[in-house]
Amino acid sequence: MARAALLLVLVLGMCSCVRGRRGRSLAAAPAPKELHIVHINDVHNRIEQTSTSSTTCSDAQAASGLCLGGWGRISSYVNAARKKAAAAKAAFLFLDAGDQFDGTLWDVVYKGAATAKMQNIVKPDVMVRFGAFNTGSLKNLHTHGLDSAGLAGSEFTFPPDILKAYIGNITFPMLGACNTDTSDEPLLKGLIQKWKVWQFGPYKVAAVGWLTPDASFTAANIGKVKVTPVNAAVKQCIADLKKAHPDVHLIIGMSHTGYHPDIETAKQVPDLDIIISGHSHTFLRTPSKVGPIFDKTVNATDETCLKKRACDEPGGPYPTYVSSQKCSGVGAAKTCTNKTIPVVQVYYASKYIGDVTLDLATKKVTAAKPVLLGGDNSTSPWPQDPVILAEIEKLSGPVTALEKKPAGKTSVVMIGGRPGRVAETNFGSYLADIMKNGPVTIALINSGSIRANIEPELVNYGDVLTALPFRNLLAVKLSR
Ligand SMILES: *[C@@H]1O[C@H](CO)[C@@H](O)[C@H](O)[C@H]1NC(C)=O
Ligand SMILES: *[C@@H]1O[C@H](CO)[C@@H](O)[C@H](O)[C@H]1NC(C)=O
Ligand SMILES: *[C@@H]1O[C@H](CO)[C@@H](O)[C@H](O)[C@H]1NC(C)=O
Ligand SMILES: *[C@@H]1O[C@H](CO)[C@@H](O)[C@H](O)[C@H]1NC(C)=O
Repeated sequence: MARAALLLVLVLGMCSCVRGRRGRSLAAAPAPKELHIVHINDVHNRIEQTSTSSTTCSDAQAASGLCLGGWGRISSYVNAARKKAAAAKAAFLFLDAGDQFDGTLWDVVYKGAATAKMQNIVKPDVMVRFGAFNTGSLKNLHTHGLDSAGLAGSEFTFPPDILKAYIGNITFPMLGACNTDTSDEPLLKGLIQKWKVWQFGPYKVAAVGWLTPDASFTAANIGKVKVTPVNAAVKQCIADLKKAHPDVHLIIGMSHTGYHPDIETAKQVPDLDIIISGHSHTFLRTPSKVGPIFDKTVNATDETCLKKRACDEPGGPYPTYVSSQKCSGVGAAKTCTNKTIPVVQVYYASKYIGDVTLDLATKKVTAAKPVLLGGDNSTSPWPQDPVILAEIEKLSGPVTALEKKPAGKTSVVMIGGRPGRVAETNFGSYLADIMKNGPVTIALINSGSIRANIEPELVNYGDVLTALPFRNLLAVKLSR
């Protein structure tokens, strides 16, 4: 049935194409054969390049040619891919599956404005997911007195008015409305779209977007926005899309829900043709055993990867093909149709960029790979776009100043790094005590999360981030 519908759409598409071109040469705009999609997700505020573990790139690391990611490399990759698609007369989309915020000091300073600038230079065609302005770990430090002065509480809470400013500034549509209702939140009403439609020659291509309904990720930061369960909402959204655009040929799901929920959605919603996934920070790669290496001087065996921390462990193949079968009738009259939907996601923090090509007529994947946005000494070097670097140079002053901003004082060395892996340290006890604040009996902290000492006496934000570089979240569940 899917194939019959596809043929019908093709025929309809071609009719309207021919009619629409009265008086013009048919040769002027040949139908693109392929759709080339480049995608990112969960960049989490990595405006600048990062270390291989996605923390701040130190000068020494930068000099070793191993720092990677950042908008400079996203930009150079997208520019090259756009050019390649144009030369091949292929359709092209750059898709952003969300969570640009939360992760570095850039948002504490710019509250989304620096991200909007970067995005507007590289120009995604569409993005899903608003919210996720969440500088939670810094807020914790603030409430526990490590912040000496200066940063007001309001700088840590990014309410709907900031989201409104951000969405007002970006030059591309924000999706997510398939399962969100903004009608009770006046600041966001009308700003989030259900879909975006493009016409590529005879092919109408649409993207529909939805978000995680998990309240712990949304409730705090999106005002009176209601988020509903995904699969029923996406089905309805596609039904509405098809009413508005009966000739839609290919439907892209833009999800900010996570790899495993997206596999479930692929099974439940066979009208989708591909899911661009985000949220779970899942690294996908085929073959799925050993990830690409960040450092070409290291052999890519499982052992060296783990020992040298030179690879990421894949959570599944890229793409992950999800098949489902729909049958109707019984006995001899029983007919079944199969649908296979590719699901793609590219880890987080701009370390990789996703690249997948579909044949437009058959909607089948013809090429797909995650690409390491590596430094000069990596196995996959990508240059940083000088346009982006110039913009970063203009904006980085206050971020560097904040890094040097006093966060507090300590009269003793707070011990992190290797010694903390094997024995109790004052730094570990201090952090566990912070977590134990409130109605909590026991707090445990992963010893490996404390990466460096903090030395007496003055402590700045940069020191704190160096010692605690990971986005370890404290998840709190209250049972009454
Ligand atoms: C790459 O690494 C080698 C060995 O560590 C170092 O000597 C060289 O300077 C690095 N190259 C670049 C371009 O950073
Ligand atoms: C939006 O643009 C205005 C004007 O350029 C700027 O002042 C503001 O900081 C921007 N805000 C965001 C969140 O992008
Ligand atoms: C990589 O492995 C090969 C074969 O085991 C070995 O000869 C070579 O020295 C290794 N290179 C590095 C950089 O470890
Ligand atoms: C659908 O998939 C099933 C199981 O993989 C297979 O046996 C069947 O032949 C397929 N049907 C069609 C119409 O492709």
